[in-house]
Amino acid sequence: MKITENEINQLYRDRDLPDEQLAALLETDEHDALLYRLADKVRREHYGDKVYVRGLIEFTNYCKNNCYYCGIRCGNHAVERYRLTKEDILSCCEEGYGLGFRTFVLQGGEDPYYTDDVICEIVSEIRQKYPDCAITLSIGEKPRESYQAYFDAGANRYLLRHETADPQHYAMLHPESMSLENRKRCLFDLKEIGYQVGSGFMVGSPYQTTENLIADLRFLQQLSPDMIGIGPYLTHADTPFADKENGSFTLTLRLISVLRLMFPYALIPATTALGTIHPLGREKGLQAGANVVMPNLSPVSVRKKYELYENKICTGEEAAQCRGCLERRVESVGYRIVTDIGNVNR
Ligand code: 5AD
Ligand code: FES
Repeated sequence: MKITENEINQLYRDRDLPDEQLAALLETDEHDALLYRLADKVRREHYGDKVYVRGLIEFTNYCKNNCYYCGIRCGNHAVERYRLTKEDILSCCEEGYGLGFRTFVLQGGEDPYYTDDVICEIVSEIRQKYPDCAITLSIGEKPRESYQAYFDAGANRYLLRHETADPQHYAMLHPESMSLENRKRCLFDLKEIGYQVGSGFMVGSPYQTTENLIADLRFLQQLSPDMIGIGPYLTHADTPFADKENGSFTLTLRLISVLRLMFPYALIPATTALGTIHPLGREKGLQAGANVVMPNLSPVSVRKKYELYENKICTGEEAAQCRGCLERRVESVGYRIVTDIGNVNR
């Protein structure tokens, strides 16, 4: 099947297309220029030239999970593991606050060392010190009660990618102990509790088909998250997927545009993975409809150890350098970083 410009205009107008047309659109590069143009138009209608920043603090690379694609999976004994203390995390926040960050994203592997009490203690202290900031957690699958406790302690947002919305595909990427069903349960619990939720998936993960991607888009319609993060799958030598190829850069950009057209209000980051696969990846991502960047606030001493995939960028730079670098990059393509907390305007 072929897709026409008319149908792309239909996607722009209706924020949706039937599966067949979406599939055809994902499989051709013929309309990329038009897609980027429409996506940029929609993004400007809702967000102008604003780009939101979120300061990322990667506070532990211990993980009890063993996802086949991930460099910090528990089965990888080649990584040097680290944990940041509450004091370390607070000093990242302090530095970030000084640099204008008003959202802190605490991301880590699923590390049982940080019990619910420990997480709550960290969150409440950040909440108390920075009442004007949003606190985002990205620490994986937990029982609903834990999510509730973090929320009560002052967390507002939660990032948890669904990774793939097809249960069979999910099983090819994860060990048997994990299930798409539980991942979805987590996401809906988080929403019900009142978090602003971010989800997303990798583009070009091993065995992914166009049908899988359509399922991802349909799932996102069902979830209606505030943020949608996608990036290319990138290989890592110390995983069972060491011989699998990287995802496609252009397909990732195309999907960013499709997401912008389907979810006009979504916060869509130009991810680190996108900046890793191409030197101007994040700039191109912004031009394709993304409106968030997430500079790294982790101490330089630990950055290389949080290696989900190979050649990850920004591992040698100080927080201030990353912040400045991104500011220039964002401006180079005609957008502007804003430091307000950027609540979704709907
Ligand atoms: N390549 C690209 N993205 C990856 N992630 C994990 N491993 C990889 C990889 N090898 C992504 C997952 C996860 C997020 C934190 O990083 O989508 O949710
Ligand atoms: Fe980190 Fe450029 S954004 S060095």
